[in-house]
Amino acid sequence: MEIEDKRKPTRNLALELVRVTEAAALGAGRFMGRGNKEAADAAAVEAMRLILKTVDMDGVIVIGEGEKDRAPMLFNGERVGNGSYPDVDVAVDPIDGTRPLAYGRLNAIATVAVAPRDTMFNPGPFVYMHKIAVGPEAKGVINVDAPVVDNLRAVAKAKGKKIEDLTAIVLDRPRHKELIAEIRGAGARLRQIPDGDVAAALMTAMPETGIDVLIGIGGTPEGVLAACALHAMGGEIQGKLYARNEEEMARGREAGYDFDRVLTMYDLVSSEDVFFAATGITDGELMRGVKYFSNSARTESLVVRGLTGTVRWITATHRWDKLNEMSAIQY
Ligand code: FBP
Repeated sequence: MEIEDKRKPTRNLALELVRVTEAAALGAGRFMGRGNKEAADAAAVEAMRLILKTVDMDGVIVIGEGEKDRAPMLFNGERVGNGSYPDVDVAVDPIDGTRPLAYGRLNAIATVAVAPRDTMFNPGPFVYMHKIAVGPEAKGVINVDAPVVDNLRAVAKAKGKKIEDLTAIVLDRPRHKELIAEIRGAGARLRQIPDGDVAAALMTAMPETGIDVLIGIGGTPEGVLAACALHAMGGEIQGKLYARNEEEMARGREAGYDFDRVLTMYDLVSSEDVFFAATGITDGELMRGVKYFSNSARTESLVVRGLTGTVRWITATHRWDKLNEMSAIQY
């Protein structure tokens, strides 16, 4: 008997996307601690681009990396995929945490997200945004425009905790001096991280990490990627574009961007039909990094699908003798 249409299992594109992040991680992982951000980025981008070509989709890169770091990028507007159905927007961050990777530190990951065409927010050249992100329990109670203490109070209440039990995660940057003082003033615990606010946003949706809320100014590409993942994981992120100076503000306004507008998760990605994959490059709290052996390497990845909310952890062993015979990428 034919199963009713809506109950038919459908394709999970994220299971193909994980090959993209695995390839980026395998390529970039070779550069751990070698002090060369550009070479690491180039390896990740090259591997990502090659595998993206094989994915059954007609993709347009909406979120590419590079404007901030002048890194070799998968550039905005670039077509990716093999050109077949579905038509999608693609967000990539071949390495979130180029510095930690280059200096042999924790928490560098490779990420990619896909959503139906024209559903991802395009931040143009504007590199930073204010962000606040939480997991499912605190969905609906945050407001990026509200004072920090109000947000902490609301998150604590939603989670049935005292503010003193909350842990906020913040990028360790001089621009966050005031924010950090406010978090301390409110009595919450604080984790400061040197880099990597995609992973930090995801941690808010994973109770085992002990992280309750991400707050602060970080990259706009990373904000859209985190929105795709949190959408799928039942959490929430809000953003607001942040101009570094008057000139950037004026340029943004001229291009039609509104720096006062609260960007809800739906503004950042308006469809629930999102796919997100991430692979650890260096060891981190979310995932272990790439481990290289004599004839193989092992990767650990996170794969998330919005329609079903399924979160998968995938550990893969990659064999060099086989791969190097058939792949254009020299691992
Ligand atoms: P890259 O590795 O892609 O440069 O990003 C690292 C990162 O820490 C992001 O996670 C974060 O959003 C952004 O940089 C913050 O920017 P900045 O380092 O300029 O404060």
